[in-house]
Amino acid sequence: MTSVAQTSAAAAIAPSTLAKVPTVRPATDADDAFIEDLQAIAFGPGRFARTAFRIREQFPIDKSLSLVAEVEGTPCGSVWMTPISIGGINGYMLGPLATHPNFRKLGAGKLLAREVTKRTLARGEGQFVMLVGDRDYYCPLGWEPTVPGNIEFPGPVDPTRVLVFAEDKSLATTLSGKIGAFQQG
Ligand SMILES: CC(C)(COP(=O)(O)OP(=O)(O)OC[C@H]1O[C@@H](n2cnc3c(N)ncnc32)[C@H](O)[C@@H]1OP(=O)(O)O)[C@@H](O)C(=O)NCCC(=O)NCCS
Repeated sequence: MTSVAQTSAAAAIAPSTLAKVPTVRPATDADDAFIEDLQAIAFGPGRFARTAFRIREQFPIDKSLSLVAEVEGTPCGSVWMTPISIGGINGYMLGPLATHPNFRKLGAGKLLAREVTKRTLARGEGQFVMLVGDRDYYCPLGWEPTVPGNIEFPGPVDPTRVLVFAEDKSLATTLSGKIGAFQQG
């Protein structure tokens, strides 16, 4: 209930009143309803048909990596991470990333993408953060295009939108194979 109220609060604030700096924090169970509402607003009913959704059905998100963005204590954005492997190499898939329409262009989206990636790779357990998204948005943040067709998805994706962030810059060209489970230990 709290989270639905939070969404309403977000919707009630006019964009013109915002000149605020977003912050991020780990998501908690209390954010679940807010995040569900936000993803519905951002992606609509088609979200359940997306290939990324199918991947998350097979390989669950790591909730300990989920982040929420806030502006003055009001939740306004969310990002998830899914541990996966590609061709046997452990890494993560970022998404969905969404910010509430009344809180866009404040830097929350990029802050969420950067922070969740930094915190995830700092664990030292996976080598890359892959996503399917717009080059114009993610490449200035350090994501790089992969070789179209190299990474095999369990459904249709635009291969030119498959991007990778990794310390090892060769991974953008060498990652290939099926998306599988994150190999523990
Ligand atoms: C994409 C999204 C997360 C951006 O959130 P945001 O909080 O507005 O992002 P930021 O404030 O950090 O960045 C805004 C800047 O990115 C630009 N931008 C937003 N979406 C973009 C896109 N798809 N491609 C290129 N640039 C984009 C904005 O025009 C703005 O540019 P400016 O700073 O020059 O004005 C948000 O619009 C959203 O939730 N969209 C619907 C869901 C979605 O598409 N998610 C991404 C899936 S890959």
